[in-house]
Amino acid sequence: MEKKITVLPGDGIGPEVVASAVRVLQVIGKRFNHTFHLGYATIGGAAIDQHNNPLPDETIDMCENSDAILLGAVGGPKWDQNPPELRPEKGLLRIRKHFDLFANLRPVKAFPSLLDASPLKREVAENVDLMIVRELTGGVYFGEPRMRTENGAIDTTVYSKAEVERIVENAFELARLRGGKLCSVDKANVLETSRLWREVVEEKKKDYPDVRVEHNLVDSVAMKLITNPGHYDVVVTENMFGDILSDEASVITGSLGVLPSASIRGDNFGLYEPVHGSAPEIAGQGVANPAATILSVAMMLQYSFGLKEEAAEIERAVSAVFDDGYFTADLARDGGRTLSTNEWTDKVINEIDTSF
Ligand code: NAI
Ligand code: MG
Repeated sequence: MEKKITVLPGDGIGPEVVASAVRVLQVIGKRFNHTFHLGYATIGGAAIDQHNNPLPDETIDMCENSDAILLGAVGGPKWDQNPPELRPEKGLLRIRKHFDLFANLRPVKAFPSLLDASPLKREVAENVDLMIVRELTGGVYFGEPRMRTENGAIDTTVYSKAEVERIVENAFELARLRGGKLCSVDKANVLETSRLWREVVEEKKKDYPDVRVEHNLVDSVAMKLITNPGHYDVVVTENMFGDILSDEASVITGSLGVLPSASIRGDNFGLYEPVHGSAPEIAGQGVANPAATILSVAMMLQYSFGLKEEAAEIERAVSAVFDDGYFTADLARDGGRTLSTNEWTDKVINEIDTSF
């Protein structure tokens, strides 16, 4: 298989963790006989410095001509005082919107060797393997009117039926590929958009007789996600609920450094990035944990290229390196060895390709 990937290293530790992920991608290509053509472009602070624009046209053009995007992270103190249009995160919002990446996938999977990093009891966290599917381009973050009034303020939650249908369909497809279980989260006892959401799920359910569906209210899920996270497989919800629940779910495994994400749309195109930010205080030291970005590459292989075996091999290798007792500084623990970003990446690569 031959694929074109646009690489956007970004700021802070972004370039370091992306370099690691690209090395792993190349080794997977070699082992499974795929060719990945990489093109590099700028986004965020790096793009502001070079082009006075957090998402330059040439970056968009390169992405348009690619099969997928790999992104590090953006932002840092250098740009914190910039006006809104020249803020690094503007580049992120614009790229998601430009490519209509309406489905944000955030898997949360416990690594057995990292369980002591979780704030939850071992027996609660150990079987967690869930995926939050968050609607990313609609809802209250984009709804109009949005304004200050004489004595208050207004935000508006808007969803068209088509917007709900496409994200729900996406979640059903994922549930079918995973455990066959879908939890739809809403606030249908209060919100009209939630009643629409629930109706759409009920309608779509007929096309997926192999998927078991439950409807849950968001406040109840907020509790159950930490008391019984093992209950969940695929969780689908609207933008704001998903924003909050996905951050809540991300603490289950206890390590920001191992959480990947994908932002996709109906076709195979997608943007893949770690959940964490640019960690400016450790940038340039070679100590960042590259696991989240490496696992984001695994998501790219699976969701954009349909390469399931290759994706599983990356996940296996990452898990095996943890099991062997190798960690980056953020996960340093008794009995383990602390490696630099590059040394830890070497371990993953050796795990994948034993012919070196
Ligand atoms: P952050 O995720 O960058 O860092 C939070 C904490 O986790 C820090 O202590 C950091 O050192 C640590 N950390 C994060 N990733 C790590 C890794 N791979 N290895 C080792 N340690 C890691 O979030 P923070 O500090 O709130 O934001 C820093 C900058 O990143 C800000 O400019 C923020 O705007 C930006 N940011 C960008 C995001 C993105 O590009 N998607 C997401 C979140 C924040
Ligand atoms: Mg958030």
